[in-house]
Amino acid sequence: MNLKGRSFLTLKDFTSEEIGYLIDLAAELKDKKKKGITGSSLKGKNLALIFEKPSTRTRAAFTVASVDEGGHPEYLGRDDIQLGHKESVEDTARVLGRMFDGIEFRGYKQETVEKLAKYSGVPVWNGLTDSYHPTQILADFLTLKEHFGKLSGLKLVYVGDGRNNMANSLMIGSSKVGIHFTILAPKSLWPEKDLVDTCMTYANASGGTIKISDSLDAVAEADGIYTDVWCSMGEEDKVAERVEQLRPYQVNDELLKKTNKNSTVVLHCLPAVKGNEITEDVFERFADIIFDEAENRMHTIKAVMVATLGS
Ligand code: CP
Ligand code: NVA
Repeated sequence: MNLKGRSFLTLKDFTSEEIGYLIDLAAELKDKKKKGITGSSLKGKNLALIFEKPSTRTRAAFTVASVDEGGHPEYLGRDDIQLGHKESVEDTARVLGRMFDGIEFRGYKQETVEKLAKYSGVPVWNGLTDSYHPTQILADFLTLKEHFGKLSGLKLVYVGDGRNNMANSLMIGSSKVGIHFTILAPKSLWPEKDLVDTCMTYANASGGTIKISDSLDAVAEADGIYTDVWCSMGEEDKVAERVEQLRPYQVNDELLKKTNKNSTVVLHCLPAVKGNEITEDVFERFADIIFDEAENRMHTIKAVMVATLGS
């Protein structure tokens, strides 16, 4: 599989085989790291890490993954560079492309990460935008695969804001790899119809299914329940409204009973607001797998960089 020179902007651009390849490569790199074997795939490469929004996991993952493979990561925070204030995205992209070998971008508009890729001429990796969070999905899928031994055929239910970056990206990824995916959310927070239709075509090809529901019974038989904060970065003015809309959709013991299974796992991309989208008790019961998921951010991000830029 050759992904050299490719950007990683949304999972829509990747086939199920390519997604599977990145997950397997991440598992291999994880195994090597546990044995103390370091790589040199990014030796001599300079990597720009642009963050318009804050981050713990994504920043740490890109930094550690770069250094593990011999690369040099450079953090460029919102107030450190001219991007979006004194200089156009196109011009910043052309400057960074002359100096850096790869660029990570976390921020608001999907359009910005797409422009960076178009104008920089180097691989660009999406570390989260308002629309998508594709590197998170690779970590989630590696975690599910480690736990269940497979992805295709699993039933995964996302509970919460059904039109945020996580819901969108989980729907795209799941439909590509043959997962039976449900978004459980109040109707006012359902995903855009166009994206659902696109994912339906992916699901038809992969053997997966997509369901959008506002009924808590939708968690029946779920292998995995996934949740995320009720209010994403950049929407802080909507907290009160979201709490009101999503209160009935908390991941708690009552909801877990509705799975009619005791093998269901709970996933969370983190950071979590315990007491809102998930109870502290449920969070702590599933902490092992939730923090495996967090660790897997690093191994999967390493796989993306090695596959698209590594030697
Ligand atoms: N899950 C995730 O992207 O976490 P950070 O916001 O800490 O990067
Ligand atoms: N939906 C969340 C995800 C955080 C990783 C946000 O955008 O804030």
